[in-house]
Amino acid sequence: MELLERAKQQPWYHTLELAPGHVTPGWFDLRDSVGRYGLPEDMTGMRALEVGTWDGFWAFEMEKRGAEVVALDLDDERDLDWPPRRRPATFPDKPRGDGFRLAKEILGSSVERVNCSIYHATPEELGTFDLVFCGSVLIHLRDQLLAYERMAGLCRGLCISAEEYSRTAGLSPWAMSRYHADRDSAVVFWMPSRKTWKRMMWTAGFDDVTEHGRFTMKTTDGHDIRHVVLHGRRPA
Ligand SMILES: C[S@@+](CC[C@H](N)C(=O)[O-])C[C@H]1O[C@@H](n2cnc3c(N)ncnc32)[C@H](O)[C@@H]1O
Repeated sequence: MELLERAKQQPWYHTLELAPGHVTPGWFDLRDSVGRYGLPEDMTGMRALEVGTWDGFWAFEMEKRGAEVVALDLDDERDLDWPPRRRPATFPDKPRGDGFRLAKEILGSSVERVNCSIYHATPEELGTFDLVFCGSVLIHLRDQLLAYERMAGLCRGLCISAEEYSRTAGLSPWAMSRYHADRDSAVVFWMPSRKTWKRMMWTAGFDDVTEHGRFTMKTTDGHDIRHVVLHGRRPA
C-alpha cells in the first residue's frame, strides 16, 4: 500500500500502529503508559481537545474511545517558543504535521487538526470541550500559566495535564520552578515542581486539582523523563 510505504520514509515522534504489523519507529512509545493518564475508558458522545498533538497518538487514542476530537498544533516552527539563543537561524519551509496527516489518512480518522497555538485558542473559535488533554507541552512554553488559563476557558469537564517536573524544586516547601532556558540545549524555560504545576492549574481556574499519578516516561533511545499527571475540573 502506497501510504504505508510513505510512512516508512517519515520521521516519527510517536510510535503508532498504523495497520496490523505496521508500527512507526517513534521516539516515544506511549502504548504501555496509556493507563497512567486516567482517560475515561468510554468517551462516546464526548467532545475532546488535545493540545500539542505532534503525530497524534493521544488524539487517535481518544477517538478510538468514541470521542469527537480536535487537536491543536503549530504548522510553522517559528511559532514555537524558543529561548532566543536556541532559536534556529533558518527554519524549514515545510509545514509541520506530515506525520499526523499521513497517520490520519491511513487510520481513516476524523480528528480535526487545527493550526493554532494554545495561547490563542478560545471557545469563540473552537467551542468548548468535555475533556481537554495536554501532555508534555507546557514544559516547553514560556508562559505555562497562560496556557492553563486558555485550557480552563475551553474546558467544561475534565482536564488531564501530564508534564515533566523538577524534584529539586520540590524540595522547597513553597511552589517553585527551576529556570532552565540558559542551557545550551534548552527547550525548557521553567521546570516546575509537582506542587507548582498543581497550584498553577488551580490559579488558572481549575477546581478539584488532584495528582492522578506519577511515572517515568522512557524514550526509545534510553532517556527517562519523570512525569506527573494532574486532573482538574471545570463546571459543565
Ligand atoms: C513534546 S511534544 C508532545 C506531544 C504529545 N502531546 C505527547 O504527549 O506525546 C509537544 C508538542 O506541543 C506542540 N506545541 C508547542 N508549543 C505549542 C503551542 N504554543 N500551542 C500548541 N501546541 C504547541 C509541539 O509542536 C509538539 O507537537
